[in-house]
Amino acid sequence: FWLQVTYWFSYDRDALTLKYGKGHVMTQTTLLEFPFLEGKSKGEEEHIRKKYNIFFNAERKYVVTESEKIMEDVTGGLVKIEQTLQFYSNPLVTNFSPIVKDSSKVTLLDLDRDQFMFSSSLPPACKELYDNIKGLQLEFPEDPITKLSDAIRYSINTPGMTLYEKLKEKEEQFAYLRVTLGPDRRTAPGIPYVLEIWPSGKGSPIHNHGGACAIIKVLFGRITCNIYNKITQPPEQTEMQPLTRFDLNEEQMTWIGPNWYQTHRLHNNTDDFCATIQCYRYDFNDAIRCPNFHYVGFVEGKEKYELEEFYPDSDFTFVNLRRTVLDEYQKFLEG
Ligand SMILES: [Fe+2]
Repeated sequence: FWLQVTYWFSYDRDALTLKYGKGHVMTQTTLLEFPFLEGKSKGEEEHIRKKYNIFFNAERKYVVTESEKIMEDVTGGLVKIEQTLQFYSNPLVTNFSPIVKDSSKVTLLDLDRDQFMFSSSLPPACKELYDNIKGLQLEFPEDPITKLSDAIRYSINTPGMTLYEKLKEKEEQFAYLRVTLGPDRRTAPGIPYVLEIWPSGKGSPIHNHGGACAIIKVLFGRITCNIYNKITQPPEQTEMQPLTRFDLNEEQMTWIGPNWYQTHRLHNNTDDFCATIQCYRYDFNDAIRCPNFHYVGFVEGKEKYELEEFYPDSDFTFVNLRRTVLDEYQKFLEG
């Protein structure tokens, strides 16, 4: 299942800017950049535009196709987990923000500062997920006395209780819980809606999402997202360094596209637990539909990091989890 190294090239016809990079397409992965017009006066600009017009015009139509020959060679004709050649309609100008803001609440300052990804501008698969879960809450307002968050905290922190015991069984690099909601309709890698519970100080390994789209909303607490470049062959002895990181507070949402923020590691750096809802959907143009995530695992015995495959699984279904932790908490309250 080896993932291939991606080389990307960005062609900005109007600004006469060429960029080249490796991995996911973003400013942090840009290795070479040639802005023909940077620092030039109006007069020089006109001269340069004329001189290079042959490369930067839309006067003739060219068609680029993926050659059959290349595909056979690269894939060996068996399993294909990613596309050999991909085209995006826009050049890389600047990153999109990883933080989503609802389009109905966007202000003039938001437009100017470019600090958010507006919900209506999300890739269509993310937009669908966003609309489905934007109003979601962890608590059930009809029962203000027994809060689900209190019951979860009690179960995580108390020996003998379900979540405490389940977490004890887990490997350190997967020491969080995946609580699935609803059926697996094969629209995503695994069940599309997953409530993830992150004990204090715990996190996920560095992983990708099989090229799928996702929306993540913090329902309780706060989570730190570390963003990485595409993983192909991780360094064996050292931990990969993030390209960027940000905190998501309660109610905030982040998004993942086939190329944007695809590889990350979530970690709870707070002293309480955190609950997030992860929602997945294959991109509408995704003809491969990879059912697996890939992660950087530390292999005990070999004492090194390796790229491994992970099929998104389930520790509990939501209805079960809710009943169990509420029962445990009720018993505790009754003493
Ligand atoms: Fe993830």
